[in-house]
Amino acid sequence: MRESQERLQQLIQRPLQIGTRLLNNRLVFAPMSGLGHVAFRELLADYGHYGLLFSEMSSAKAIPQENRLVSPVFRWRDEESHLLVWQILGNSPGDMAKAAKRIEQEGFFGVDINFGCSVARICKRGMGAYLLKKPDQAMDIIKAVRYAVDIPIWVKFRTGWLDAKNRIKLEPADLCDKAVNFACMLEAAGADAITFHPRVAPDRRTRPPKWTHIAKIKQAVNIPVFGNGNVFDESDCYDMFDQTACDGISLGRIALAKPWFFASLNGMFAADDNTYSEAIFRYIHLLEKHYDPQQAIKRFYKYSRYYCASFRFGNTLRAKIRKSKSFDEIKCVLNKFFENSLMLNQRPNENLFV
Ligand SMILES: Cc1cc2nc3c(=O)[nH]c(=O)nc-3n(C[C@H](O)[C@H](O)[C@H](O)COP(=O)(O)O)c2cc1C
Repeated sequence: MRESQERLQQLIQRPLQIGTRLLNNRLVFAPMSGLGHVAFRELLADYGHYGLLFSEMSSAKAIPQENRLVSPVFRWRDEESHLLVWQILGNSPGDMAKAAKRIEQEGFFGVDINFGCSVARICKRGMGAYLLKKPDQAMDIIKAVRYAVDIPIWVKFRTGWLDAKNRIKLEPADLCDKAVNFACMLEAAGADAITFHPRVAPDRRTRPPKWTHIAKIKQAVNIPVFGNGNVFDESDCYDMFDQTACDGISLGRIALAKPWFFASLNGMFAADDNTYSEAIFRYIHLLEKHYDPQQAIKRFYKYSRYYCASFRFGNTLRAKIRKSKSFDEIKCVLNKFFENSLMLNQRPNENLFV
């Protein structure tokens, strides 16, 4: 084994205390709306070797009434619940506390509070990253959730807002100071861990994340900080640990593209060409197992861009998938694609990886 691989595995496998619980692996699957559902998480579980799985964001208002047998989002397998952190979205301390209580009662590892989503329809309703503009309201939410539950409380947030009005007055560096301040307030209000995505809103994933800002957050607080943003291979992972001193890493798109990524980084799995075909057919099977045909195919279309990003000519494959009307047609497209030897990209195709 290369020395750098061994060093990375040691970094990943250091135990980490999160609130009252201990984690044995510092790589986690990021919350991904429409993608990180029960079927995809079962695919991840086939390969294993992650620390935790984060759920898709879920409305805090809805969670107390949700029925896991019918809800498309609030659905899980019993086997995964102890490693699952459920992410909630909302703007009322009361709703967030009630949702967190249900999450605790279901036996999940923890609850994650979304202060990072910058999608306009969410922010217009005063939720997600909008709350970075209202730190007092945000802290009322954390305090209410802390009062309601003993399980670990995570908070996911980003550097802040650089909208048209602020663009003239503020530099990202000033915003980073605000983010540091926000992180300290989160710690004081009772959060047990932070996931920090060092991008401003409304910029989504167009400009590179500023990892130096993760380092600043890490220096400012005593609770664990998970870095997030553009870790796409083993050396990115090593660099993020090295450059930011973060306690752990939250992996989004690369875990979609390569569900075996956690196992590979831990030295437990070596992917070959067959891995790509095996994983995609297994995923289709899992989608069909967990969802009705319409819900399953909708989720597969959304997923396909991340899977196709690994291949040269992935755009063409994706277009053919999008044109297919059923999984039978999709399987034909895939079988044809795998007849030829795979041409893999060194890094995921950025046009697809948005
Ligand atoms: C399609 C999509 C859906 C996402 N959904 C969520 C979400 O529900 N909650 C959240 O906190 N972040 C969400 N994110 C952000 C990711 O968790 C992560 O911060 C982002 O993809 C950057 O990490 P990466 O470079 O490892 O992909 C989403 C990202 C994408 C691309």
